[in-house]
Amino acid sequence: MTIDLQQKIYIAGHRGMVGSAIVRELSKKGYTNLVYRMHQELDLRNQTAVANFFETEKPDQVYLAAAKVGGIHANNTYPAVFIYDNLMVQNNVIHHAFLSGVKKLLFLGSSCIYPKLAAQPMSEDSLLAGKLEPTNEPYAIAKIAGIKMCESYNRQYGKSHGVDYRSVMPTNLYGPGDNYHPENSHVIPALIRRFHEAKVNQQAEVVIWGTGIPRREFLYVDDMARASVYVMELEKDQYELATSPMQSFLNIGFGSDITIAELATAVAKATHYSGKIVFDSSKPDGSPQKLMSSDQLNQLGWKPRVNLAAGLSYTYHDFRTIQV
Ligand SMILES: NC(=O)c1ccc[n+]([C@@H]2O[C@H](COP(=O)([O-])OP(=O)(O)OC[C@H]3O[C@@H](n4cnc5c(N)ncnc54)[C@H](OP(=O)(O)O)[C@@H]3O)[C@@H](O)[C@H]2O)c1
Repeated sequence: MTIDLQQKIYIAGHRGMVGSAIVRELSKKGYTNLVYRMHQELDLRNQTAVANFFETEKPDQVYLAAAKVGGIHANNTYPAVFIYDNLMVQNNVIHHAFLSGVKKLLFLGSSCIYPKLAAQPMSEDSLLAGKLEPTNEPYAIAKIAGIKMCESYNRQYGKSHGVDYRSVMPTNLYGPGDNYHPENSHVIPALIRRFHEAKVNQQAEVVIWGTGIPRREFLYVDDMARASVYVMELEKDQYELATSPMQSFLNIGFGSDITIAELATAVAKATHYSGKIVFDSSKPDGSPQKLMSSDQLNQLGWKPRVNLAAGLSYTYHDFRTIQV
């Protein structure tokens, strides 16, 4: 297949951690006709504004990386915002992409779509096989609706309009452009900030909630961006071989997990913190393990390239750049 590097590609959420990594990857591959809008210029919750944007720009492809994203605390505190914003953004973008003639779109979900007690590693067929984790249920429901929306448009308009809307479910991501907010961030950026501050303030120890025993999987964001473009560039028959009309998405993971204690040690090393790491086991642990099965994507020929030590070191560099 020859790839048209001049086709117009809209990256929604291009200033976010994932969106900016997708822009880097597309540019690296030689795609030259990329379009984006800042959140302030185009609020994707606004249907009229989104309709006008697609009518004016008429992109050929869309990467939908705009979303309201946050950690447990933010999801618990703002459940209404998480479900409303995400449903509005994705409904507007997917529907108006379709109306303006976009044939190819990539929707980004997340591993939280899988049931709380899903068998590990979680494969694509565990979607809707059980109850979700309550803390991020509103966010997960929006993401599941996004997958089903893409599938439904494929099923109804695939043959008649050539619609080919794909979805990927990345595991926990980290990397440059992450949100290092002390309360509203994910585990890696939160630990980077805490270990960095502990080093600067010469704290003798860093206390981490829980036992440190739960296992989690982490993928460097540039690997995720590479996988996203890889999936979009796959021939339709290859993509369809690995998916099915009502299970039309692929997991993107690192392929193995580590304990939170191992992660904390790795972050301490990346940030050059030499004090003690203490685990407060009176605090809740969350699920014992969250690992995705990336077998389908691996069989299609994609593998991650950046290991945790290198990825943490790049991310710490990014954190320090924004601090100054
Ligand atoms: N981070 C992870 O660990 C992870 C893991 C799995 C999946 N994902 C998925 O990857 C996607 C992107 O996540 P991310 O980590 O890159 O998040 P992020 O850094 O917060 O980026 C999200 C982007 O979306 C924009 N946005 C949000 N609401 C908008 C609106 N109403 N109108 C226009 N733009 C809006 C944000 O702009 P402002 O900042 O200006 O609001 C931001 O640029 C999400 O779908 C997420 O589910 C992320």
